[in-house]
Amino acid sequence: MDTSNVTGEGAPAAERSIVLVGLMGAGKSSVGKRLAARLGLPFVDADQEIEKAAGMTIEDIFDRFGEPHFRDGERRVIRRLLEGPRHVLATGGGAFMDPETRELIRARGRSIWLKAELDTLVRRCAKRQNRPLLKEGDPRVVLERLMEVRHPVYAQANFTVDSGEGPHELVVDEILRLLRAEATP
Ligand code: S3P
Repeated sequence: MDTSNVTGEGAPAAERSIVLVGLMGAGKSSVGKRLAARLGLPFVDADQEIEKAAGMTIEDIFDRFGEPHFRDGERRVIRRLLEGPRHVLATGGGAFMDPETRELIRARGRSIWLKAELDTLVRRCAKRQNRPLLKEGDPRVVLERLMEVRHPVYAQANFTVDSGEGPHELVVDEILRLLRAEATP
């Protein structure tokens, strides 16, 4: 289905994928896997799909071709995924910043911003050393700057859920509650 010109309400609720957005370390993949299991839907990690499509890691894409090239691939991969069957999608932290991707998510999905404090993001991100943007400086400073720029945009998601220090399962409970409340007339 070509959704490049979708306007108005977009896809019916029963076909909409659930799209998790938010900063690096917000818990998009961990929460997404659990949410997908509870909903009986497939889970897809956009970053992994980009790596599969490119045949190289995100770090290598940034190193060899630069961030704009990565963003082009990210946009294309997310479009392909959202034009396919319903699933739970964990997006990379920058994906929702792209206006075209945001519009597609609005038309084809339900978006959920997983919001967390800076300390939580810094702590979680320290567990993985393969995020190119966090190598551009002190990860705390980078994340703080990204928060300022991205939070107002993430706030355009359909729902905002606190994804702080508590168990991921509680975040999933809250998302399910919001989705059910919305589905109940
Ligand atoms: C990015 C976040 C990463 C990955 C890439 C860029 C970003 O994904 O897409 O390193 O711009 O915030 P996670 O949010 O899953 O770490």
